[in-house]
Amino acid sequence: MLDVENIRKQFPILSRKVYGHDLIYLDNAASAQVPRSVIDAITHTYAKHHANVHRGVHCLSQEATAEQELTRREVAAWIGATDAAEIIFTRGTTEGINLVASCITRDMRPGDEIVLTVMEHHSNIVPWQLAAKQRGLVIKVVPINADGSLDMDALRALVCDRTRVVAVTHVSNVLGTVNPVAEIAGIAHDHGALCLVDGAQGAPHYKIDVAAMGCDFYVFSGHKIYGPTGVGVLWGRRELLEQMPPYQGGGEMIDHVLLPEGTTFAELPFKFEAGTPDYASIPALREAIRFIDSVGIDAIEAHETALYRHITARIAAELPQVRIFGTTPGKCPVLSFLIGDAHSYDTGVLLDKLGIAVRTGHHCAQPLMQVLGVPGTVRASMAVYNTMDEADRFVDALVRIAPILS
Ligand code: ALA
Repeated sequence: MLDVENIRKQFPILSRKVYGHDLIYLDNAASAQVPRSVIDAITHTYAKHHANVHRGVHCLSQEATAEQELTRREVAAWIGATDAAEIIFTRGTTEGINLVASCITRDMRPGDEIVLTVMEHHSNIVPWQLAAKQRGLVIKVVPINADGSLDMDALRALVCDRTRVVAVTHVSNVLGTVNPVAEIAGIAHDHGALCLVDGAQGAPHYKIDVAAMGCDFYVFSGHKIYGPTGVGVLWGRRELLEQMPPYQGGGEMIDHVLLPEGTTFAELPFKFEAGTPDYASIPALREAIRFIDSVGIDAIEAHETALYRHITARIAAELPQVRIFGTTPGKCPVLSFLIGDAHSYDTGVLLDKLGIAVRTGHHCAQPLMQVLGVPGTVRASMAVYNTMDEADRFVDALVRIAPILS
């Protein structure tokens, strides 16, 4: 059993009130809250060794650089990567996918195919569409089954020798479906295609081992793993990253700059880190990882799942008008629902007035909403610091507002 009360004490924001109520924060799939150690790490950088990284011989710059590079090594170890140079710091998952989509499609030919799924976040759709338009590529879309699982037969039928990349989410941010990413990577590789996994919703809940997963790229964000916003991670296989052209040009990504042409580029990972990185937040990402490890990712997932099961059992018993989207066995504890035909915004606003934070709307997954036949859903997403009491107060609130909405 987790010592949730002790964990909560590490999160200053959890003691605040919202409209006179104790905050119940259930919008963790959008951004998780951060522990004191993460906040302190950011403050520490500004107070003690604030200076630009990799650009100074002076003490402060050396210290800031050491902090950043230590973080890179810890991130690599955390996701099962043996080579820290394969860790590229980005602004977040979105930038990581844009980087890969932009760089690996440059040598593709018109008619080459990209396979996506209908449950992707817009971040794993639009970058591919932009590249496809530029290069004349064809996008194919894998559908889902009624329970929200991926239609693997359709995926097997769609991936073919024209496929150059399969880009799939690890976990759906709406349905909570956990996709068989190792199997999907194997199918992609059988056809000579690459596999990118969007780990934005996977990294907060599951042990990530990119070697075991067998994918070629894995991307995630700091702000969903109890870390700082503005920092993300792209992991890619070294030989691929080495072949890829740079994404952005600027300082520190070069080897030697010549005019009017002939510029050469830095080694990994710096080739993909143009400009000043967020060196204040990057060390705080390390603290987020250490926080997760201090609790244990399996214990976190088990706790969240217990909350999810409790909530859904009470909903089944007390709120027959609630529709839940995404019911695959072993799903991630993300609850997308609607109360009858009530608009998700109305539900979200009423919950907010009771101090309960949820996300409403299309969740940046409009193609999935079309398949589900709704404009949006209400989403309650759990984290390590949510309690059974909060789970009960959340369902109590639904019971209270349901008659108002129908
Ligand atoms: N991608 C984030 C979410 O699903 C913002 O809420």
